[in-house]
Amino acid sequence: MTRRLPPAIEARAAAEFDARLSPDDARVIGADILARADGAAAILCCPAEKLDADTIGKLPDTVKVIGTFSVGYDHIDMKAARARNLPLVNTPDVLSVATAECAMLLILAAARRAGEGERYVRSGQWTGWAPTQLMGTLVSGRRLGIFGMGRIGRELARMAAAFGMQVHYRNNNRLPPELEAGAVFHPDDDGFLAACDVLSLNAPGGEGTRHWLNADRLAKLPRGAVVANASRGTLIDDDALIAALKSGQVAAAGLDVYTAEPQVAPGYLALENIVLLPHLGSATTETRDAMGHLVLDGIATVLAGGRPDNLVT
Ligand code: DGY
Repeated sequence: MTRRLPPAIEARAAAEFDARLSPDDARVIGADILARADGAAAILCCPAEKLDADTIGKLPDTVKVIGTFSVGYDHIDMKAARARNLPLVNTPDVLSVATAECAMLLILAAARRAGEGERYVRSGQWTGWAPTQLMGTLVSGRRLGIFGMGRIGRELARMAAAFGMQVHYRNNNRLPPELEAGAVFHPDDDGFLAACDVLSLNAPGGEGTRHWLNADRLAKLPRGAVVANASRGTLIDDDALIAALKSGQVAAAGLDVYTAEPQVAPGYLALENIVLLPHLGSATTETRDAMGHLVLDGIATVLAGGRPDNLVT
């Protein structure tokens, strides 16, 4: 195991898998991963650890399965894993509600200027209520565009509807009516972007979505839109979003994820109209326990010769 995991998960891993825990919780890189994998039947890694083609190619033959403590697997070179016949198990479903809550938090915090407000109170400069102080914008009654209407996107749609938002979405395929639940499908980017008073990115990372939100697409949003990202930092061209936040094309943004975590583009840090969280999407006690059990179940099933539901195909 490359990182500390919640106590119940470490206890189970130690009891059932004779696991090598990581009590110091240090971030591990290529050579350390290989050293820890020596003689192991499974690796349990996290999104911060890159399992590139070189590392996967050098894994000992004892390794029969990789588990990732995440639903996203853009940190793992799947081509290399497939070439070695190494199955991957991940943590779908159990984190959808927590991550959607985080996206809703980013939307509300950005629209209502919560980051600025917090800094104002903590700085001691707040002198009391004032009619024109830190005025934000309602989300209620506005259009939310969800880019990536998978499990997390659909949970967000459900929450946003309760806030009185009208949901629009862009997805590879149109969903069946029971999953669409009244949301408006857009078959092309232009129509979708024009409908986004608020845009939330909920698609997976990887080359297919790299810099999807670039200068061209930002320019197609209604002026003064709000942008939230709780998926992967790589979906955004940071320079383009920083320019749009400065010009007012984007009124405010909320980010939980970054291109080169834990580094945050300095341009973001210099702006007031952005709320920055440290990749908290799935960070609730219940969720992290459920993720841990799911990935351990998947590893156990693969090692026993079975095919778990959370096998990445
Ligand atoms: C994931 O599961 O991919 C998240 O980013 C980690 O919570």
